[in-house]
Amino acid sequence: MQADRQRIADALPAYDIGEVLGQGGWGVVVAGHHRHLDRSVAIKQLPTAAAADVAVRRRFTAEARVLASLDHPHVVPVYDFVEREDLCLLVMEQLPGGTLRERATTTGFTATGAVAVCLACAAGLNAAHVRGVLHRDVKPENMLFAASGAVKVTDFGIAKVLGGADTMLTRAGDVVGTPSYIAPEQVRGEELSPATDVYALATMLYELLSGELPFTADGDVMSLLFKHAYAAPVPLLDVTPDVPAEVAAVVMRGLATEPAERYATAEAFGVALAEAGTRAWGANWLSADGMPVVLGAERIVAPTRGATPPSPLRTGPAAALPPAAGPTARSAVTAGPGPVREQTPAPAVPEPALPEPAAEEPDEDEPPRRRPVVVAVVVVLVLLLAVLAVWLLPRLFTVYGSPAGTPAGGPGTDPPAVTAT
Ligand SMILES: Nc1ncnc2c1ncn2[C@@H]1O[C@H](COP(=O)(O)OP(=O)(O)O)[C@@H](O)[C@H]1O
Ligand SMILES: [Mg+2]
Repeated sequence: MQADRQRIADALPAYDIGEVLGQGGWGVVVAGHHRHLDRSVAIKQLPTAAAADVAVRRRFTAEARVLASLDHPHVVPVYDFVEREDLCLLVMEQLPGGTLRERATTTGFTATGAVAVCLACAAGLNAAHVRGVLHRDVKPENMLFAASGAVKVTDFGIAKVLGGADTMLTRAGDVVGTPSYIAPEQVRGEELSPATDVYALATMLYELLSGELPFTADGDVMSLLFKHAYAAPVPLLDVTPDVPAEVAAVVMRGLATEPAERYATAEAFGVALAEAGTRAWGANWLSADGMPVVLGAERIVAPTRGATPPSPLRTGPAAALPPAAGPTARSAVTAGPGPVREQTPAPAVPEPALPEPAAEEPDEDEPPRRRPVVVAVVVVLVLLLAVLAVWLLPRLFTVYGSPAGTPAGGPGTDPPAVTAT
């Protein structure tokens, strides 16, 4: 490691390299500090053997590019990516709050806290899914807490890169993931989709709520994988009857063996969770534990406001929001110590009743719709006046040009004969 440390320092000259922060299955993560920016970072090193493979490096680079483009409060931000000889380094935000696993086994979570943290993870995963990135290794060890207290999804797609997939959404046939959280289609080598991450997220929530996993290993990984692929999970309410039934129902649907029976997206899962939370605990449940949750997936905002379905408890901070003014209105609400932002108001939030439009006012910028009619009327009047003038003028000349008392002739009649005597 000492040799690697020197090579990392050489590759990242602006940083002081610190202690090892952690070691997962695919690499070592060390602390770093940017001297000029005074910013602490975590530097993940792709294993040397994997980094030596040109194809793996190419995919890793492509993945790093996608990750760098993900800008979500519940996804760890990537600051830099450095390739040098057989060294591949990913520089990211340092998350000093420990993993979700550590938090679960030390302080633990209330039911609302567990759902809130999974809602945040769903929002982060959804941001990745919409960019075509599947995580494929969702588990409490890969969710880390930032200094702000917000949970962030980390360790994106490394398993995918090493598994050899070129496009994460369509690749099938490689089994990656962690046995306790692995989705049935991952075990069966079938096509993966966002529902694959939903399954793992539902497993994580099941575990946070009950302290148990939906399937137990009994010491045999193969039988555990088989259960994930084909067996029905133990109903959450059988393990922990205290969880509200509507929340348990969402978790169990997230665990459906067939992907088509699950929520298709992390956003849909988040919306269902938020709705169930609101039904079970009232509109301000999200702020109950002080868990910062930034609802980037805009549709999730609605149920946490208690708007779908209507809740008798519309008094929480979210419900106290100024009403959405229109499809592009922005507003800020707070749940917990951190800010909870709403990117755009959710379509599910009933719009405030708009006043009936007043009698139509002509828009100054637009030509009035009646203008052609007015022009036509004016043209007709002008024509009539012209005809009248043509008809009247000869008669006026006749009248004033004739002997007094002699009536003027009608149109078309000859002027009266003047007889010289
Ligand atoms: N951004 C980070 N900030 C602080 N520690 C981190 C960070 N990323 C990873 N770690 C630590 O390193 C460990 C392994 O990181 P991870 O990205 O999960 O690697 P692997 O792909 O090997 O599982 C984590 O469990 C955590 O302890
Ligand atoms: Mg990991």
